[in-house]
Amino acid sequence: MPAEGAPTRFPAGFVWGAATASFQIEGATTADGRGPSIWDTFAATPGAVVGGDTGEPATEHYRRYREDIALMGELGLGAYRFSVAWPRVRPDGAGALNPAGLAFYDRLVDALLEAGIEPWPTLYHWDLPQALEDAGGWPHRDTALRFAEYAVAVRDALGDRVATWNTLNEPWCSAFLGYAQGVHAPGRREPAAALAAVHHLLLGHGLAAAEIRGGRTADGRPHRVGLVHNQTVLRPHTASPADLDAVRRIDGLRNRIFTDPVLHGRYPADVLADVAGVSDFGFVRDGDLAAVSAPIDHLGINFYNPQWVSGDVRGIDPAVVEGDGDATYVGSEDVRFVLQGLPRTAMGWEVDASGLYDVLIRLAAEQPGLDLYVTENGAAYEDEVGVDGAVHDADRIGYLDQHLRAVHRAIADGVPLRGYFAWSLLDNFEWALGYSRRFGLVHVDYATQRRVVKDSGRWYAGVARSGELPA
Ligand code: NOJ
Repeated sequence: MPAEGAPTRFPAGFVWGAATASFQIEGATTADGRGPSIWDTFAATPGAVVGGDTGEPATEHYRRYREDIALMGELGLGAYRFSVAWPRVRPDGAGALNPAGLAFYDRLVDALLEAGIEPWPTLYHWDLPQALEDAGGWPHRDTALRFAEYAVAVRDALGDRVATWNTLNEPWCSAFLGYAQGVHAPGRREPAAALAAVHHLLLGHGLAAAEIRGGRTADGRPHRVGLVHNQTVLRPHTASPADLDAVRRIDGLRNRIFTDPVLHGRYPADVLADVAGVSDFGFVRDGDLAAVSAPIDHLGINFYNPQWVSGDVRGIDPAVVEGDGDATYVGSEDVRFVLQGLPRTAMGWEVDASGLYDVLIRLAAEQPGLDLYVTENGAAYEDEVGVDGAVHDADRIGYLDQHLRAVHRAIADGVPLRGYFAWSLLDNFEWALGYSRRFGLVHVDYATQRRVVKDSGRWYAGVARSGELPA
C-alpha cells in the first residue's frame, strides 16, 4: 500500500499499451484486394448501424499508419495491440492468400519496431470474410479450420518479428451479439446457432494457439499466445434466490462457457443444463475439448463495467432496467440488468473500478500462474475540440486513473498482471453505434482526419513514461 500522497508505482517491465481493431480504424475496405467482411455487409444493411455509418473512412489508418505510430510515440506506448483483418489476408476466407494485404501488416510491424513499440496482433476482431459467413459462419465447423489456416499464414508472415499473439477478441460478442441478439454482424437471431458459434470460435482459438505456440522470432524469443476475453463481474441486484440464480446463469453464459473449456477442457454442466432446451451441444466432437484447451501463455481481459443482475424485476422501476436482457442470454431471457445509480459513460455503462479488481482476483485464483493482461479498458465521453484547440476530457482521466488504481491493487495482492492496454488509441467506428461514440486517447475529426491528442492522452503518456500514477 503506497503511503498517502506518494505516487503509485507499477512493477518494472510492466507493459503500457493502447489497442485498436482493424475494421474500426483502417478504412480502405476495397484497397489492395481486401475482400468483404461480415461488418461491411452488416453496415450496408439499412438500420443496422447508427447514422448509416460504415467502415469508410474510419480513421484512414491503412494509409496514415505512420502518422499514427508517431502518435503512439507521443503517448509513450511500449506496445500496440491491433488486429489483422482476415479479409485482407485471405479475401474469401478459404482460397488464395493475398500478398498485398499481408504486406500492410508487414509494413506496420516494421514501422512499430523501428519506433521501439512491441506489436501485439490479435488475429480475429470480428471481421469474418463474408464468403465464410455465406458458407455458414461460426456456427459451421469449417470456419474454425479456416481460422487455423489463416493464423498459420499470418504467423509465417510476421512470426520472425512478432513474439506475442492473441487469437480471438471477445468471442462472447461474436457468438451472442452476432448470432443470438443480432445487433452485431452477421445480424442473425438464432440461439442454437449462437451456441454452435461459441464452440467453433473456441475450437478455432485452440487450433490456432497450438500452431503458433512453440515457434520463435528470428532473434530467438518464443512465441507467446493468448485469448482476449471480456470477463464480466456480475453482482446480484438483491440477495434473493432469484437474483443469485440469475447471477449464476449469466456468469455461465458470459464467463464460464468460455473460460471453463479454454482453461479446464470442459463445458460447465450447469450451463449445458440451462440451455438444454435450445441445444444438445451435439457439435462437440471427440478431441475437441483437448484442442480448445491447448496451453496458452496469457489471458487478455477486456473490462469496462460490472453489471447487477436480477431474476425477478417485478417491483423495480422499469427506468433503471437495462434493455439488453433479451436474446443475448440464450435460455435466460428472463434475466434483466439493473442500474445502480452510479455515474455512467456515454455508452450508458456504470463506472465502478472495483469490478476490474474483482475480475483479476477471480481469474488469478482460477488459474494460478497464468499471466494476465488488461487488453482493453477505457470509456466513451462526448469529447469536443475546444476553442483552444484541445480536448479537455477530465472524465476519461478520472476513469483511467480509478481503473489503474484497481489494477495496481490487484498486483499488490499478488495477481500476475503484466500489462495494460487503453481502449482506444484513436476515436473509431464503435460497431453498431458507428462514429457516434468516442473512446480515443486521440480525437479524430472524421471530415478532415485531423488528430488531436486529448488531455487523457497526455496524462496517459505521463503514466506510461514514469510507470507510476500521480498522487
Ligand atoms: C470491446 C471491443 O473489443 C471493442 O472493439 C469495442 O470498441 C469496445 N469494447 C468498446 O465497446
